[in-house]
Amino acid sequence: MSKELDPIRELREDHKKVKDYLLELIDALNKKDAQRSLEILVLLDKLGGPHFRFEEETLYPTLKKFFGEEYYQYLLKAHDRVIAAAKKIAEILGKGAIAEDEAKMLVSVIRSEILPHPIECEGLTLLTDRLSKEELRIIAKNIELSRNENVPLLEWAETIRDKKV
Ligand SMILES: [Fe+2]
Repeated sequence: MSKELDPIRELREDHKKVKDYLLELIDALNKKDAQRSLEILVLLDKLGGPHFRFEEETLYPTLKKFFGEEYYQYLLKAHDRVIAAAKKIAEILGKGAIAEDEAKMLVSVIRSEILPHPIECEGLTLLTDRLSKEELRIIAKNIELSRNENVPLLEWAETIRDKKV
């Protein structure tokens, strides 16, 4: 199975799904549909855990030789912001209902803290044609491992992830 997995295609597919979920979440929040919003948040949490994990465990460290330490740290901070935003959304949606001002605030948080991630992270694929077959193989293996372990984003952030938000 690992021989077949194309890490760049997987990365792009994840970003595409995340973008669709985020746009759907914005739509559900605008309609103040707390139940649907929570369902989408759970999907994002499930997808985001393995995704952030392989990015931080192999993809970003492997690409660091191209963009350097400062941009690497910037990427980790961008993940911090997504995690903090997801916690905020979970906290509000966990109440089971959503007020008008809360919905507006969460839409703004998604647009400024979360949506920029798939947009920007997708751009990193520009660099991946410079990676060796061996480097791509290691990333592919890590994608598989992260998906098999299947730890959702907020749980991963509080347990496995070294850097705490
Ligand atoms: Fe990403």
